[in-house]
Formats: sequence, structure tokens, C-alpha cells
Amino acid sequence: MIKITIDHQTLRAREGQTVLEAAKENHIRIPHLCYHPALKPSGSCKLCGVEVTSPAGKQVVMLSCILKVKENLEVRTDSELVQAHRRKSFDKLLRMAPDAARIRDLAQEWGVSVAPPPDGCIRCRLCIRVCNEIVKAKALKMVTDETGSRVMPEPGRCMGCGTCANLCPTRLIRVRDQDSVRTVSIRDEIIGQLPLERCEGCGNLYATEIFLKHIRASMAEHPDSKDQRRICPSCIKLLSGKAQAARKNK
Ligand code: SF4
Ligand code: FES
Repeated sequence: MIKITIDHQTLRAREGQTVLEAAKENHIRIPHLCYHPALKPSGSCKLCGVEVTSPAGKQVVMLSCILKVKENLEVRTDSELVQAHRRKSFDKLLRMAPDAARIRDLAQEWGVSVAPPPDGCIRCRLCIRVCNEIVKAKALKMVTDETGSRVMPEPGRCMGCGTCANLCPTRLIRVRDQDSVRTVSIRDEIIGQLPLERCEGCGNLYATEIFLKHIRASMAEHPDSKDQRRICPSCIKLLSGKAQAARKNK
């Protein structure tokens, strides 16, 4: 048997065993992902790094799934050097597999803070800006906490115009018209859910009541606003085409 020390705990290991195997047998935890008892070690994930003293007397990190035990070997599993190495290794793995729950959970278990997985938003704020500056509904806001920033709905403010969805370059904001109701959502959060009105020309559902009211109120000064009919954009196009043709034929 070979005597080694892990985190000041002396234990006996078998000849040919790796430090990781000896640690596991003695219930000493070292994070690892690419180790498998039936396979030769590959040193791929780098999570199992531990601190040892090199022959030159320097503190270095070595992979415990590859490092073989030897008499009087002293190992640290939680030194600052190991923690820095572990953080770097988790970062690298999470860059390759940002949604992998097993890696995310393991990182958290080892006290490594993990940024939320990408949500498909590039934080361009187009949705928020258009909703504030043009639509003036202020139905979206940027919320920032310790995990970063994200676009969130401001409850009860959406008018269901869908302008944010039209501008969103990543198509993260969606508009769904179903059963006479328009639902505007971002990720799995509902921004607004409002009933749709029918066009007086073609009978198609085309806009929400609250948005039509908002348009009428903001166009109050415009001469065309005297016409209070509810006409969808396709019918408006058709009617103005007909009006133009009639003027030409006079
Ligand atoms: S949701 Fe879309 S429009 Fe809004 S900030 Fe993200 S990417 Fe930009
Ligand atoms: S367990 Fe992956 S490098 Fe050691």
C-alpha cells in the first residue's frame, strides 16, 4: 500500500491507482466529468485538477484522473490555485455546452457562479425603445440582477400592436392570434393577451380594441381621423387603389 495525503488527511492507496480513484474510495469529492472506471483516462474535461508540488518545488495543478499515487504524495483539492483552475475549466465547458444542466448543476455545487444560458436576446433594446418612443405603451423593460440583464414585460401595459415582435432581430418576441385573442410573448412570459377586433371591410380579425382606441386618440388632430370606421390595412390599400382609379377615370 502507498501512503498519500489529500487535504491533510492521510490515506492508503493501491499501487497503480490514480489520485481520483483513491479519493473516491475514501469519499473525498473531486469534481469530474470525463472519468469512467471502464475506460482509460483522457484528461478532457480538466475538472479533476488538484494541487501538488512539482519536482522543482513549485505548486502546480495536475489532473487527478491521470496522476498516479506515489509514496508521501501530498494533494490539495480546494486551494486557491485549484479553485481558479476549476473556474476556468467550468467556463470552458459551459462555453461549449451552455444549456447542459449536469454541468451547470455541478458548477453550482462547487461554488462556481454560472451565467444564465443564452435566451436568444441580443439586448439591442429595439423592442423597449419602440414601445416607449413610438407606441408609448411602455410595456417592456430591462431588468438587471446578479445574473445579468433581461427584457421583461411590464404587466398590464401591452396594447397588442406587435411592433416589438416585428422589430426583434432574433424573433424572440412572438405574436399569436388564436380564438379571437392576440398573445404577445417573450420566452415563456406573456407581455399581453388581448381580444381582437374585426375589420368592417373584410371581416378579418386584425387589431386589438385598445390599440385601435390608442391610434384614434393619437390621430385626433389628423383630418382623416373623422372617419371612425375600423378598416384593416389590406382593405385600406384596396379602397385607396379603387379611389385612385376612380379619380383617373373622371
Ligand atoms: S427581445 Fe429582441 S428586440 Fe428586444 S432586446 Fe432582445 S433581441 Fe432586441
Ligand atoms: S475527469 Fe475529466 S480531466 Fe479528469
